[in-house]
Amino acid sequence: MPETLPPPENPLRAGMASDLAVDPCVLVIFGASGDLTGRKLVPGIYNLARNRLLPSAFGLVGFARRALGGDGFAAKMRDAVATHSRHKPIDARVWDDLASGIDYVQGSFDDPEAYQRLAERLARFDAERGTAGGRTFYLAVPPGDMRTIVRQLKAAGLCDPPSSDPSRPYARVVVEKPFGTDLESARELNRALLGELDERQIFRIDHYLGKETVQNLLVLRFGNTIFEPLWNRDHVSHVEITVAEHIGIEGRGKFYEATGLMRDIVQNHALQLFCLVAMEPPVAWDADGVRDEKVKALRALRPIRGRDTVAAQAVRGQYAAGTVRGDAVPAYRDEPDVARDSSVETFTALSMHVDNWRWAGVPFYLRAGKRLGKRVTEIALHFRPLPHPLFRGAAGATAQPNTLYCRIQPDEGIALRFATKIPGQAIALREVAMDFSYGEAFGHETPEAYERLLLDAMRGEATLFTRHDEVEAQWAYVDPIMREWSNGTVPLALYESGSWGPAEAHALVGRDGVAWSRP
Ligand code: BG6
Repeated sequence: MPETLPPPENPLRAGMASDLAVDPCVLVIFGASGDLTGRKLVPGIYNLARNRLLPSAFGLVGFARRALGGDGFAAKMRDAVATHSRHKPIDARVWDDLASGIDYVQGSFDDPEAYQRLAERLARFDAERGTAGGRTFYLAVPPGDMRTIVRQLKAAGLCDPPSSDPSRPYARVVVEKPFGTDLESARELNRALLGELDERQIFRIDHYLGKETVQNLLVLRFGNTIFEPLWNRDHVSHVEITVAEHIGIEGRGKFYEATGLMRDIVQNHALQLFCLVAMEPPVAWDADGVRDEKVKALRALRPIRGRDTVAAQAVRGQYAAGTVRGDAVPAYRDEPDVARDSSVETFTALSMHVDNWRWAGVPFYLRAGKRLGKRVTEIALHFRPLPHPLFRGAAGATAQPNTLYCRIQPDEGIALRFATKIPGQAIALREVAMDFSYGEAFGHETPEAYERLLLDAMRGEATLFTRHDEVEAQWAYVDPIMREWSNGTVPLALYESGSWGPAEAHALVGRDGVAWSRP
């Protein structure tokens, strides 16, 4: 028995690792009075500061329509950090240092004068704090405002493209999801952004890629030798991807009525998980190396198009009232700002096929939903059954096919299930698991997804961001399904809150003789 290894030192605590270094810069958040800024972005910045991962020359500027001064914004952000930071209580020294570089610009997104004020503020930061022209603009705004903001930034001379001198700072723009509302609008947005900026300046965010366990899918596959030889049609019978949440729409009725779960979760987060499981090994661990392979995986997805195919391969569900974790919860249609006859989906199950050499004939079943029994994001690779069942006859002797579970959240870890002999005179088998837990191995010090992504955007590292062709390939896959749904030709399946989705989702996989791992 090998000795238990000591937990490795957390690199985020060991000071600033040189390859994580961010050049002096100012982060400007558009949509600074919105929920995301207080819940994720500023707490993320605070934790980066706390872990000494920000440059000493750093500034943070909020930009929004709401009337607030720099001090008012800083005070509001302090409260937000105190509530939402993963480290509590707030460390006053870290916060005061950060707050000394916080400012606010009030203005509407289409007002050129507001951008002049912003330019003055940025110039002052450069002069007083040494931020040296480094800028990251974070667009935490609806897709309709993005083009306006980028145009105004460009017109104000704040968004110059990278120069041929790599040591010169240049502006970067982080674009929050949703990136468009369908393929056409995503293409338009890409055209608009690429009309003003260079692709190297654009960071389309999908916070799932900032999760440690999501990145670890690539390490599991390409940092080990034992998994990749099995990771294909010869050994895998089917793959399950589950993104289940117990929460509902959390007061976002208006947003959900316009969005639905396919756009909110499947088009981005769930398809990113698919990419990381299905893609070929990249030639290099860099932005284009990784993204080239993800785009190829998306392009290999067989389209789900036309009424009959959509009806057969895509389930559209919506939660009815029920009980979640002991509490009675209302139906989606009884949520505030939701139409009483809404047919917007809060659940989707897809039976997907990948037309390439690695995965031909291996179904990928994807399931995502709100108000399900439990919060769990997980990928399960089910291996093929035994070619010849040697141990049969005795009770409990049947060997189940092996399964590899990658638990993305919560209870992050990886488990391999395999058969073992139950001690005793008879040959009786039972499934057991080799289980790796992140919490046990590394402690619970995991940075939040937004911390990693903010850091990467500020240092110009785009590997964990979505490229223009990738986001379009994602929309190209979900668009025909949503179009068929909006025609009203495919029925909506209601499911009880707290269940694992509608009966139709079980029938979807049942037809192929399989069942979801979690009922
Ligand atoms: C967001 C969606 O992008 O992701 C939310 O808008 C969803 O509806 C959230 O709840 C899930 O993120 P996480 O990190 O909690 O799995």
